[in-house]
Amino acid sequence: MIQEIIVTTTNEDGSTHIAPMGIREESGLIVIAPFKPSATLENIQRNKSAVINRVDDVRIFAGCLTGRKDWPLVPTEKIETQRLAAALSHLELHLERIEDDELRPRFYCKQIVEINHRPFQGFNRAQSAVLEAAILVSRLHMLTKDKIEQEIEYLTIAIDKTAGENERVAWAWLMERIESYRQESTKEKIV
Ligand SMILES: Cc1cc2nc3c(=O)[nH]c(=O)nc-3n(C[C@H](O)[C@H](O)[C@H](O)COP(=O)(O)O)c2cc1C
Repeated sequence: MIQEIIVTTTNEDGSTHIAPMGIREESGLIVIAPFKPSATLENIQRNKSAVINRVDDVRIFAGCLTGRKDWPLVPTEKIETQRLAAALSHLELHLERIEDDELRPRFYCKQIVEINHRPFQGFNRAQSAVLEAAILVSRLHMLTKDKIEQEIEYLTIAIDKTAGENERVAWAWLMERIESYRQESTKEKIV
């Protein structure tokens, strides 16, 4: 099973890097697999640590994909870095080993500590729709125009029926990005 979370890591200048990633568990270890090149990859390699933030505020996923990375942070407990203030729970990880790959290395990490901050409120279809749209935005150049339009049309149903304020804001940021991609593609065709 893959779980979509936000990884926080420390940059070389001491600032905190935030990135959505899909993680999974293998033999008791957490596997993080960033595509090269990646700031998350470099930070984990250098610091031998990372933090997994489980969030239900989908604005953070959509924000990271649309250049809004300034989310409130608080210090972590055992390893020296920061986590998202919005995390429902977080895991602090120590890097155990790397399985290198030209495209997508795999970082096997050991859990040092897990802390709960707020209860999970239940599944929400609009939150899932925002995650799907965020992944779509991260792959726009690999998809056909028709595929993009079909996906958006389908995902809009869950947004219209079940979104709260955070989901609407996140959706609007992603749709803004898709709209500028549509316009860029039209311009390219004219040129
Ligand atoms: C839900 C979601 C899951 C993602 N999972 C991954 C992942 O597992 N690996 C990856 O390299 N990028 C993933 N991405 C895209 C990255 O968040 C994005 O490309 C980011 O810029 C990674 O590069 P960075 O480490 O330099 O920030 C995901 C994006 C979303 C929205």
